[in-house]
Amino acid sequence: MSQTKGLEGVVATTSSVSSIIDDVLTYQGYHIDDLAEKSSFEEVVYLLWNGQLPNKEELQSFSQQLVENMEVPEEIFNYMKAYPIADVHPMAALRTAVSQLGLYDAEADASDIETAKRIAVKLQAKIATVVTGFARIREGKEPVAPKKDLSFAANFLYMLNGEQPNETATDAFNKALVLHADHELNASTFTARVCVATLSDFYSGITAAIGALKGPLHGGANERVMGMLSEIDTPENVDSYIQDMFDKKEKVMGFGHRVYKNGDPRAKHLREMSKKLADITGEDKWYEMSLAVEKKVTDSKGLLPNVDFYSASMYHSLGIDHDLFTPIFAVSRVSGWNAHILEQYSDNRLIRPRAEYVGPDKRSYVPLEER
Ligand code: COA
Repeated sequence: MSQTKGLEGVVATTSSVSSIIDDVLTYQGYHIDDLAEKSSFEEVVYLLWNGQLPNKEELQSFSQQLVENMEVPEEIFNYMKAYPIADVHPMAALRTAVSQLGLYDAEADASDIETAKRIAVKLQAKIATVVTGFARIREGKEPVAPKKDLSFAANFLYMLNGEQPNETATDAFNKALVLHADHELNASTFTARVCVATLSDFYSGITAAIGALKGPLHGGANERVMGMLSEIDTPENVDSYIQDMFDKKEKVMGFGHRVYKNGDPRAKHLREMSKKLADITGEDKWYEMSLAVEKKVTDSKGLLPNVDFYSASMYHSLGIDHDLFTPIFAVSRVSGWNAHILEQYSDNRLIRPRAEYVGPDKRSYVPLEER
């Protein structure tokens, strides 16, 4: 038996949800550039789950289903109020609350496709409410109920801030959701598929995926990018700060990728949005510093920015707390997790690879009293 560390290059399943071929990302065959420029997040979610873009009626009905499912049981918020809130990271709160949501869904254990599709809608809708509700509760505010006439992106910002976002903020946020929606067999998606392939329930699959996304080598990188930029503080410090990281053999968050070798195609959209928002807010410091970090890392190591790098300064410009960046990734990526879980349930086989044993050779058992 031979193994590949980190399963690099291993093809573990077939999937029609999204593909990365020659550094081009597509969702169900549609180029990410087209979707990012032209689609609402709701259209993209529909596409990922149904294999085709919705017509007007289908989109309207689907968007309505989502907004009608956004409310969460009051108990979820009551539990949050009892969390040791000062020390709870929003990703841990999200992981816990999603697991709890399963307790309030009478059909949570079903894995037939019809029921699974209903659960997918519930999770897609409620995760936005969970993230925004927790963000408010920890500030001593009450959660804000969704508005039925707002888009998914606008509703998220509305539930977060308690006021309707302007068009620029909504468009930027919508685009970020589209760009994060799915990404082939990334670590959290693989986790979700492994979990439900045991025929465990949908909520367990999404809870497990959130746990995988939380790590700094995956979705947790975007929050750390902003932490790094805050520490660097001024563009003049970029060179020495990054050089110091290289000298200490530390990884620069938001750079590199397991699959893309010529750059992450999502990064250019996020760079553009980061610039646009910086121009509008007049606070271009974070964008300028990001450019300087990119130049230093790329010139020195040939590493290119990934999806997490410019999303950090972009979300910051939208006034979003830094520790909500990764939960926002989850608000979008649950669409991809859902699509992959539906795909797994519809043609399931237990996922159970092997390990190459490298431990001690056969040993004779020594009784406890003789050790
Ligand atoms: N900063 C500095 N060096 C990096 C780096 C980074 N962000 N990403 C990769 N490298 C270097 C590694 O140190 C390694 O160098 P070596 O061969 O001299 O030891 C080489 O590039 C290969 O990296 P490796 O960690 O083996 O690649 P991987 O495919 O296992 O990991 C990532 C991919 C994304 C986890 C990795 O690039 C990383 O940790 N990036 C930072 C975290 C991040 O942004 N994650 C979000 C991903 S979308």
